[in-house]
Amino acid sequence: MTAVARLEGVGFVYPDGTRALAGVALELREGERVGIVGQNGSGKSTLVRQLNGLLRPTEGRVTLFGRDTAGVHVAELARTVGLAFQNPDRQIFAASVRSEVAFGARNLGRRGAELDRAVQAALEAVGLEGEAATNPYDLGYSRRKLLALASILAMETPVVVLDEPTTGQDARGVERIQRIVGSLGETGRTVITISHDMRFVAESFQRVIVMRAGRVILDGPPVTVFAAEHAGALASTFLEAPLAARLGERLGLGTTPSESALLDALAAR
Ligand SMILES: Nc1ncnc2c1ncn2[C@@H]1O[C@H](COP(=O)(O)OP(=O)(O)OP(=O)(O)O)[C@@H](O)[C@H]1O
Ligand SMILES: [Mg+2]
Repeated sequence: MTAVARLEGVGFVYPDGTRALAGVALELREGERVGIVGQNGSGKSTLVRQLNGLLRPTEGRVTLFGRDTAGVHVAELARTVGLAFQNPDRQIFAASVRSEVAFGARNLGRRGAELDRAVQAALEAVGLEGEAATNPYDLGYSRRKLLALASILAMETPVVVLDEPTTGQDARGVERIQRIVGSLGETGRTVITISHDMRFVAESFQRVIVMRAGRVILDGPPVTVFAAEHAGALASTFLEAPLAARLGERLGLGTTPSESALLDALAAR
């Protein structure tokens, strides 16, 4: 598979001297759905911001589709990588939902019917099609979060980065985001998502990257990362495999059992 992004020896130190990343080496491939997990402050947001030039590595290098991002303007990188912020209020600024969602897509040069189609599709994906004229600040937090996500979807970039998209969402909201991640993957886009929700990560992503103190400590499919042998490494960054993975393993069903297989195995005991 084609390498979409490659990080080589990436380190990052904030201007105040805080080291947030050290020696990160990663290759993200086309069409891959990647979940990034790790305790608060482990460097997840700092890592994904290196991908679209919001932050630049202070050591090492980042290439996108084989091209070194150093010296490439953020506006240019935005054609390739769309990033929905962890805090939607740092992203939202327009006076209506519709103009907010149109902004990024318009910046990428979309106009007229093409722009309308992209905006409409994004609004429908997040369920905000009835709120096009609403002021974003009249939406509650969970819907502002979905609005920030829609703005990125409308840009239709080959790489989509979501920083904690499920924060504040109820079960229906999480399901909606799972559908969005799934359909992005089906259309061959690369989806990189930070999350604290291990069940969401286990169910929606093919690859899990675990961070601790600015470094990648585990990287593999959920079935491996959430296996009992890695429980200690996960605990070291204050994570625990989802309950289904832990139960499945004890019942001999592996770390990614279906709910029905779990229920059947429990009923048979
Ligand atoms: N603007 C900043 N200036 C200085 N230090 C920062 C800044 N932003 C983040 N940090 C520090 O960098 C480290 C990594 O932070 P980062 O936000 O990348 O972590 P995170 O894994 O996304 O955490 P969370 O789960 O809380 O969102 C932390 O020590 C954090 O305090
Ligand atoms: Mg973060």
